[in-house]
Amino acid sequence: MIENQQKHLLRTEKFVRNIFKNEGSGHDWWHVYRVKNYALEIAKKEKGNLYLVEMAALLHDLDDWKLKKAPGENRTQKWLNHLGIEEKAAAQILEIISQVSFKGARVKTKPATTEAEIVQDADRLDAIGAIGIARTFAYGGSKSRLIYDPETEPVLHDNFKAYKNSAAPTINHFYEKLLLLKERMNTETGKKMAESRHRFMESFLEQFFNEWEVKI
Ligand code: ADP
Ligand code: NI
Repeated sequence: MIENQQKHLLRTEKFVRNIFKNEGSGHDWWHVYRVKNYALEIAKKEKGNLYLVEMAALLHDLDDWKLKKAPGENRTQKWLNHLGIEEKAAAQILEIISQVSFKGARVKTKPATTEAEIVQDADRLDAIGAIGIARTFAYGGSKSRLIYDPETEPVLHDNFKAYKNSAAPTINHFYEKLLLLKERMNTETGKKMAESRHRFMESFLEQFFNEWEVKI
């Protein structure tokens, strides 16, 4: 990696760390840090461009719809301009980020490049397993959602708007997104990493419902 790229990465890490340091919905700096680490691990095995993958992982949630920011503001583009990154690389980074997010159980979000596949897999790995469970309840709490409501069925959303506007209890999110992710991993490395995380969520849900129904 050339010196300039190392500088971009260090400056971006510092910038993002400061913005997300007090985020309380599971999208704090340490989420970004884990996604970056997963993404680099996958990229080394799948031969993705390490610079583009790391930049996109660091910036992937900066303009996310779930997080507070001024409407219409494009913080990522602004930051890339500020760094003075060449136009082609900036466009590639923005393109990767635009393909990362989940948009509903029945909405197709297949990434078009190896780098986008990698960053999407990395972000999804942090949505499942023990950490994924913790993040999901943190998010639900931050939005004042119920933990579980036996009278509200999960919905497999067929459009982004409906997914985005749902205020369902947090347990529903497992059925609406988290349990679907294992089958949708893009890379072989990501698929392998998803396995034990997926199993852990299944056993968490089994225990949750056993306790709820006083079976144990
Ligand atoms: P994505 O871009 O795919 O949405 P993020 O990293 O931005 O991925 O964050 C997604 C995480 O936010 C989910 O995995 C979950 O932890 C939390 N989250 C998002 N929507 C909900 C919801 N409706 N209920 C509970 N948690 C949610
Ligand atoms: Ni994320």
